[in-house]
Amino acid sequence: MQTISVQEVRKALAQEGALFPVALSRRVAGATLKIPVPFIGALYLVSNAQTAHQVLTKHGETTRKAQLLVNVLRSSFGNGIFTSDGAFWKRQRKLMQPTFHHGSLAQYAERMVAHACDMAARWQDRAEVDIDAEMHDLTFGIVLDALFSYQTAYEAEQIRRAMQNLSAGIAAQGRFALLTFLPDWTPLPIFARKRRGVAVVKRLIGQMVAARRAQPTAQRPHDLLTALLEARDSATGETMDDAQVYDELMTLYIAGHETTAVLMGWVWAMLAQNPQAEATLHAELDAVLGGRAPTAADLPQLTYTQRVIKETLRLYPSAWFVMREVTEPFMLEDERVPKGAIIMMLPVATHRDPQYFAEPDAFMPERWQGDFEQRLPRGAYYPFGMGARVCIGNGFAMMEAQLLLATLAQHFRVQFREPPQPTRAIGTLGFAHPVRVRLLRRAVR
Ligand code: HEM
Repeated sequence: MQTISVQEVRKALAQEGALFPVALSRRVAGATLKIPVPFIGALYLVSNAQTAHQVLTKHGETTRKAQLLVNVLRSSFGNGIFTSDGAFWKRQRKLMQPTFHHGSLAQYAERMVAHACDMAARWQDRAEVDIDAEMHDLTFGIVLDALFSYQTAYEAEQIRRAMQNLSAGIAAQGRFALLTFLPDWTPLPIFARKRRGVAVVKRLIGQMVAARRAQPTAQRPHDLLTALLEARDSATGETMDDAQVYDELMTLYIAGHETTAVLMGWVWAMLAQNPQAEATLHAELDAVLGGRAPTAADLPQLTYTQRVIKETLRLYPSAWFVMREVTEPFMLEDERVPKGAIIMMLPVATHRDPQYFAEPDAFMPERWQGDFEQRLPRGAYYPFGMGARVCIGNGFAMMEAQLLLATLAQHFRVQFREPPQPTRAIGTLGFAHPVRVRLLRRAVR
């Protein structure tokens, strides 16, 4: 274990953005780094696969979600499964798990493809767009549809504006660490905006939940809202009350679109920078789909498409860090970590460790052939986290990314003005600036 200063880390983040752990970890050959931090005590940065695996699995019971992060997220996530802990989290996770089983997910495939087809129909050859904003719009529409089966553009617009206010508050807290310590009632304009967003979203969702409860079961649309209302603990028969349904809906909304949007942004960047991979992808899409829209049944044939996504998540994991707070001291490698210490696992660094990935900075989707993934040591690749708190939307996200890419890349290529830069903020691994691109229509062969 080595010690570095908080100033050094801050400088690296400012210079290199969210990819800073890659160079930092290489400089110390993957050693765990300890950062003495005023007020918090110690913060540990972990890029070693085995250590990260241990923290997230073996020490699951002696750690919890870092309260620093929970402070920022609680006003929107409430006590949903992303931020809750202990017995309450366990109960909620058990209740919600069946909703995300493989068999339950296929029903969302058609809607995902319909949203992507709408986008492809809107896109014009040689038009310039901000691809990050386009991908946000797309995954935003999909998550709203999956959650609430939104029917009218008016309703979608109202909730979109409110969510934007809320997200601006969260984003500001990601940029200025000091704001993470302040409660949401702080009289600053950015908090006022966040509060305004929360209030409107609460009202809109409250109305939807009430309307849905009033509907006879057989007439309820098949979406996540219905699934949450009808989720029942098999042992106790317990269901969720309105407040809990609200918190889980917000959790799924926030956890469920930003991550996939930034993933798709990087997928386009990787394809533009790697013409050989792009050509292989096009060949697969033309052979399997021949110009028609994909369905869930095509997914097993779209193997290269899936590898493109896995490889992008390796180089640019949307969740580039996973944070825990120690609740009972334990040994982290050769050091006893005290209660209250924060451990930040860095998949973004581990995913580029040359021990596990030859040519770690190269985009090589073909590396995922055969049993490559099964042969990787535990903790070497975890874009969706590990252990009991692994992403519940993993299957949803992979299916979505595969279907969106298959639909859009059949008909369009994306040309970047310049390589996009990763964000300088703490949050998802998005972009530092809007990413302007030119859309180029391609003919299916
Ligand atoms: C590319 C897309 C996605 C990535 C990279 C991603 C990544 C992650 C990661 C790393 C975690 C673990 C966090 C931790 O341990 O602290 C997580 C948790 C979670 N994710 Fe995702 N996620 C994605 C998409 C989704 C989607 C589409 C949904 C919902 C529809 C979702 C819902 C959740 C929820 C609810 C949790 C908390 C689970 C729990 O603590 O029990 N995610 N995600």
